[in-house]
Amino acid sequence: MNVQAFDLRDDDRRPPVDDLVGIVQRGLRARPKRLPSWLFYDERGSQLFEAICEQPEYYLTRCEIALMAAHAGEMAEVLGEDVRLVEYGSGSALKTQMLLAHMHAPVSYVPVEISTEPLRLCVQDLAVRFPQLPVQALHSDFTRALRLPIPPRAPRRTVLYFPGSTIGNFDARDATSLLRKMRGEMGDNGGILIGADLKKDTATIEAAYNDKAGVTAEFTLNMLVRLNREIGSDFDLGAFRHRSHYNAMAGRIETFLVSARDQRVRVGRQSVPFAHDEAMQVEYSCKYSPADFAALAGKAGLEVIRAWTDPQGMFAVYYLMRAGTRARLAQ
Ligand code: AVJ
Repeated sequence: MNVQAFDLRDDDRRPPVDDLVGIVQRGLRARPKRLPSWLFYDERGSQLFEAICEQPEYYLTRCEIALMAAHAGEMAEVLGEDVRLVEYGSGSALKTQMLLAHMHAPVSYVPVEISTEPLRLCVQDLAVRFPQLPVQALHSDFTRALRLPIPPRAPRRTVLYFPGSTIGNFDARDATSLLRKMRGEMGDNGGILIGADLKKDTATIEAAYNDKAGVTAEFTLNMLVRLNREIGSDFDLGAFRHRSHYNAMAGRIETFLVSARDQRVRVGRQSVPFAHDEAMQVEYSCKYSPADFAALAGKAGLEVIRAWTDPQGMFAVYYLMRAGTRARLAQ
């Protein structure tokens, strides 16, 4: 195998460990208690997420892959030639490979990932399948302002690829500011190709976050395993339960770690009380109708240029550009 040097640019602005203690302590002081969902993605968490994607109830990944299989050619056409493709949260990058296979002379691929091992695997995999493609990995938190590596030649446009409905993990305000940040990073002529889960019946959505095999529950609890290891907290793994329910009014899955009894947990120098049945919020997964999504894009100064959905209306992929682009192109 071609073992090219793993050229990983490390972004020094990720929080160091003592920040992590502070982040967790702050979240535990909030009412209700909450922890940020990016804490799921240590090495084990990233593996568990891959396993979630293979559960029969978790339709999101399967539906998005089916959309790519059906429309990646058309998407590549819309993106055009000489594109620099930047991916937010690269993961295993299977969908990306389907897109890259159709793209015309991409300038470079820039996977942005907070978790080192998945990033390394993704780069290795791509080096084998696309030996001509320059890959410029960026080890960073994509919610921060990114310092993108200098591309090997001038791209016609930068396209930010953000698949998987990860945008759903942000509440409306944070999603708007993340899209605004992306709008800046892609530049005047840039675009955003983004996957988002669609609203649908409660039973289907809730099953996806409560799989029978219990993989999602393990994924949720792994956040505590990680904290115990990395900041020396003493969460009792047998005393917290996974709970996910669909809030139809808000249009989102809300996931909690629920305390199975009255207990105290040590975090740094603090001892934090949990009441029996107290629910600590760890994740939102927002669901958008196509109209909801167009409105969200509009708030960020973007407009939907194209939308692809499956006939069952399970999932959607949108291509966004700066608001007013369509009118400008029509002149
Ligand atoms: C990767 C954020 C899209 O919210 O559906 C899967 C993460 N959490 N099961 C999602 C997740 C529980 C997933 N995203």
